[in-house]
Amino acid sequence: MRPRVSVGSPDRMSAHSRSETRLDVAGALASHAREFERVFGGGSHTRLFFSPGRINLMGAHLDYNGGPVMPTAVDRGTFIAVRARRDRRVVLASTLEDSKALEVDLDSLPSARMARWSDYPLGVVIELALIARASDREKELSGLDVLFGGNLPVGAGLSSSASICVGTAFALDAAWKLGLARMDLVDAALRAERNFVGVQCGIMDPYAVGLARSNSLLWLDCKDRTYSYLPLDTETLSIGVADSLVRRELAQGAFNERVAQCREAFEVLSRRQTDATCLRDIRFDTLTEYQHELSSTARKRAHHVIPEVARTFAARSSLQRGDAEGFGAEMFRTHASLRDLFEVSVPELDTLVDSAAGAEGCLGARLTGAGFGGCAVLLVQKGSEASVQARLTLDFTARFGRAPRVDFYGGDSGPREISR
Ligand code: GLA
Repeated sequence: MRPRVSVGSPDRMSAHSRSETRLDVAGALASHAREFERVFGGGSHTRLFFSPGRINLMGAHLDYNGGPVMPTAVDRGTFIAVRARRDRRVVLASTLEDSKALEVDLDSLPSARMARWSDYPLGVVIELALIARASDREKELSGLDVLFGGNLPVGAGLSSSASICVGTAFALDAAWKLGLARMDLVDAALRAERNFVGVQCGIMDPYAVGLARSNSLLWLDCKDRTYSYLPLDTETLSIGVADSLVRRELAQGAFNERVAQCREAFEVLSRRQTDATCLRDIRFDTLTEYQHELSSTARKRAHHVIPEVARTFAARSSLQRGDAEGFGAEMFRTHASLRDLFEVSVPELDTLVDSAAGAEGCLGARLTGAGFGGCAVLLVQKGSEASVQARLTLDFTARFGRAPRVDFYGGDSGPREISR
């Protein structure tokens, strides 16, 4: 029987079939608060925040090309504990890193990144301090002790970076009583990553985290930043994450390279189709007619991006028709294109996706995030989670001599303060 993706209430929590993998956010944050006191000592009121990670189901490498994307937030993410200080120092520490805490002064914030994890939250401190300065409120900002932690795999394609940046923006806004609108916080997080950390990322990740709703996919059009929600029937479908556990150190450089190659394709093709404002606007017939003017690399990148726009619209129609198999088929096509044309896959991810294609009850799979390692996202019929997990583990272990991590996550409703 075809599973239906029907219109359901986005706010209804799903009865998750694998409750042992669900996150107890309040419990996890309570232990994070104890850790905060161990690091910074006891004292006045500490505020606790949670910010989710995200998975993208369709629209791979489309955000910086102006295309549509379909991400959703997961119930794994960043924990942030914050307490005001009496001075103007901001101290950023993490339970996930061995390195020492970073301490900066609000009156002399650094202007260059340090190539450490703390660049992400520090970029956000700088952005929010700039906003406060613009309204003459900079001197009102207090110093802060901040402890980060969480349970989202880092560098795995689940956007731990947007999770930390958007979460930091929400936590600082609350601690400094800035009263900024949600979209201002999301945009500040995006600027932090682009301007301070130096990744030329698109808008998808901070928007997916900041605008998340449970049991829904976000439909975000990255050309005009309009968005809506597509209900996901979690009674019949589960979203899985298969982590190859491959982490590529140089992924940031390779990502920026893809952005540049897409820009090159746009610059050449938009001379032939002058109404185009981004690569997403280029028609397939323009591409085929003028592809000889592109370098072989730019040609391959454009042959991923332009059909991926069509696949993403087709996937949305499948979802709206309740055709989960049709949606899953687009995911498999996307993976093949990411592997052969965009060249961001690795053998470990290809093995996971091939194995998913042969697993009973697995409707779709593709690498998620930028690629170069990390995770594959799986669309699985409810009830088939254990058999899909077993099949992927078996095939992967036979080839690589070690097991991947296959989990089924719940959805999440976005960054928030969690009272103790
Ligand atoms: C990374 C980037 C996103 C997006 C994806 C690929 O996660 O941060 O902006 O480009 O890769 O879809």
